[in-house]
Amino acid sequence: MLGTDLVDLLMDRKASLYPNVEVIEAPHEVLDITQEDNVTAFISTHTPDVIVNCAAFTNVDKCETEREAASNVNSMGPKYIATAAKECGARVIHISTDFVFDGNSNRPYAEEDQTNPLSEYGRTKLEGEKNIQSHCNSYLIVRTSWLFGHNGINFATKMLELAEHKKELSIVTDEIVSPTYTPDLAGALWTLIKQECEGVINVSNDGSCSLYEWAKYILKTMGYKIKINPIKLSEYKRPAKVPLNSTLNCQKFTTITGMRMRSWKEAVKSYLEIQK
Ligand SMILES: NC(=O)c1ccc[n+]([C@@H]2O[C@H](COP(=O)([O-])OP(=O)(O)OC[C@H]3O[C@@H](n4cnc5c(N)ncnc54)[C@H](OP(=O)(O)O)[C@@H]3O)[C@@H](O)[C@H]2O)c1
Repeated sequence: MLGTDLVDLLMDRKASLYPNVEVIEAPHEVLDITQEDNVTAFISTHTPDVIVNCAAFTNVDKCETEREAASNVNSMGPKYIATAAKECGARVIHISTDFVFDGNSNRPYAEEDQTNPLSEYGRTKLEGEKNIQSHCNSYLIVRTSWLFGHNGINFATKMLELAEHKKELSIVTDEIVSPTYTPDLAGALWTLIKQECEGVINVSNDGSCSLYEWAKYILKTMGYKIKINPIKLSEYKRPAKVPLNSTLNCQKFTTITGMRMRSWKEAVKSYLEIQK
């Protein structure tokens, strides 16, 4: 989802506003980030100034059973990228997640808050962050949350699909998230790249909601009249343990860039207009 939107955005900027930006795409079929030799060869051949790692094993429940594969992609891949980037002097922008936190806080998480992942996904993503930090000379780790976009399966696509086939749904009310639209995040990444921002930074669309509120907003905006039953996260059985509070404090992003991400509701509206 995110990688496609970022490439689309930069290709467009290349054509119109930034003629000196050359974009090299590296989809999975071109580069497997778990193969160290391939990563080293790809990066040393292209010698990029900036590498953005959007690749990950993102199926949170599958990470519980496919632990080795999750670790290879989310933890070892970033290490290989970081090592090769250091060799050629490239800066790495690495995408990470709200799932590095345990979700027990009663306020949005700031960058320096204590991490404590509950799941294999969160644990392997945190390992990936640490590998970036210890193997790169120059890096930015961007933590984001609950992505939705036009190029992959996500909460919004699932709600739209369920609405077509079900008469009623049961959605969790106590899992609080900041839905983030991948084209908006791609724009924010470009701003951070231009500003040569380093360290760790949170970026999500503004505001937060429960999954129940998010589902209700999507279905109401699309005109579906489906009954939604409120349930607790504890009633929803799934392999991975996930944080109750997944919201990120994005004040640092606003202070550094002077920008505020638009609200999640505006972003969902834009998504639905295109998705229709
Ligand atoms: N989705 C969310 O809600 C969410 C929330 C917070 C943070 N994030 C983070 O945001 C980033 C982007 O997420 P996304 O939702 O855009 O992910 P996505 O749609 O699942 O895309 C991940 C991409 O990584 C590729 N990939 C998997 N294994 C690979 C490998 N070994 N080598 C190279 N590429 C590989 C996948 O290719 P295949 O499809 O061929 O496997 C896919 O194209 C990730 O770092 C993710 O952890 C996501």
